[in-house]
Amino acid sequence: MPDQPDVFAPVVNSSGQTIAETFFTQPAPDGKLPLNGVNARSTMRVLESEMMLDGDPDKNLATFVTTFMEEEARMVIAQNLHRNYIDHAEYPRTAEISKRCVRMIHSLFHGEEGEESPGTATAGSSEAVMLGALAMKWQWKRRRKEAGKPDDKPNLVYGSDVHVVWDKFCRYFDVEPRQANVPKGKTTVGPEELGPLIDENTIGVIAVVGTTFTGECDDVEGLDRMLGELKGKGLEVPMHIDAASGGFVFPFSHPAFEWDFRLDSVVSINTSGHKFGLVYPGIGWLLFRNEAQLPEDLVFYEDYLGEKDATFTLNFSGSASFVLAQYYMFIRLGYNGYSSIVRAMTENRHSLADQLKKEDALEVFDSDRPTLPLVICKVREGENFDASHLVGELARRRGWLVPAYDMPPDNEDQKIIRMLVKVNQTRELVDALVQDFHDSIGLLRDTDLSKVGDLPVHSGTGY
Ligand SMILES: Cc1ncc(COP(=O)(O)O)c(C=O)c1O
Repeated sequence: MPDQPDVFAPVVNSSGQTIAETFFTQPAPDGKLPLNGVNARSTMRVLESEMMLDGDPDKNLATFVTTFMEEEARMVIAQNLHRNYIDHAEYPRTAEISKRCVRMIHSLFHGEEGEESPGTATAGSSEAVMLGALAMKWQWKRRRKEAGKPDDKPNLVYGSDVHVVWDKFCRYFDVEPRQANVPKGKTTVGPEELGPLIDENTIGVIAVVGTTFTGECDDVEGLDRMLGELKGKGLEVPMHIDAASGGFVFPFSHPAFEWDFRLDSVVSINTSGHKFGLVYPGIGWLLFRNEAQLPEDLVFYEDYLGEKDATFTLNFSGSASFVLAQYYMFIRLGYNGYSSIVRAMTENRHSLADQLKKEDALEVFDSDRPTLPLVICKVREGENFDASHLVGELARRRGWLVPAYDMPPDNEDQKIIRMLVKVNQTRELVDALVQDFHDSIGLLRDTDLSKVGDLPVHSGTGY
């Protein structure tokens, strides 16, 4: 009878050390590719042990990005990770499912009914922003050429409440950023701020629907009216809506709020499937009003994957999992399911805000305008501690990851604490967070912060 393998025998590496010695007593591999590989379990442990040092995504109240998906959705993701999204000829059903998602989102955003809704899946809103803004640049160039005018000084107009991705676009693609500060006392921008910056070289105006700073929306209706008037005077300037977060919130929470293709000047919209589309990170969407908005010059054709194929993307290869997961969520929840989740998040957001208002150390901001499910507050002047001390103390208690940051110009003197109330933020967690706020404020008030060395405040990733 052959010897049974001894499952408890230590696995030995080329230096004669057991795997346990290698990975328990030495830093993780870095700098150089290890000479030899090790078994799968040990490799997994190396990664697991290091991930423990990261923050806990379930307590990450800083991120807009999805941190919870149910088991069946995770199975769809795991089962399709090896399917390359871009191989349309080999995976025609994946390509079809992606188009179905585009059609559903286009219709959700009140796009015109048509044969083929124009749009594309992307890695996230950032890629969608680059593509949408490039399309505006190309359309502007075409209009300038047709009018026999120079096209070498394009500019883009937006407020200081935009995400950094818009500055990136301008830098990467050689467009002058024309940024209006958010006036003191305001939190978003509208025609009064952006109108004066527009001229014949403006490729477009950006309006944010659900800003990263406060979750509110720029005055899209006012901007649309202003752009309509300009068009009447012969200056055609389109609007792109950055609905990275709002795209999967406002259609459910405020269906009568017109921020999308119902507005005449809106030519394109980006949204993140991996935010309130409720899919794990790796999926965004760009939607065009109609085919006319997509310049043919930006579509590339190739046939090296089996058949002639058109692509309008910055990335090429990528897993199909997140497109399929988006479709899963659309079928799983439907319009009513998304509405119910948005209502639940909003209710818990109100509960968090109302409870925090009872803390006299905090000023909690409330808005009666459409707002994302988040709470922002600041520490009142006159307290012996600031927002950084408070979020450090919250982290120390139960590992809450809460950001404190400066508002954009002209309100940068205000330090804001922001908490997302997402689908995994149950009432039990909300109440625990409120209790931790209360205890943290009590402790900080009783602490002599001039001896800050004594205070267990942590900052940085993982705390
Ligand atoms: C308003 C806004 N635009 C764009 C982005 C970038 O989105 P993504 O992370 O999907 O690339 C974000 C991210 O938070 C955002 O809040």
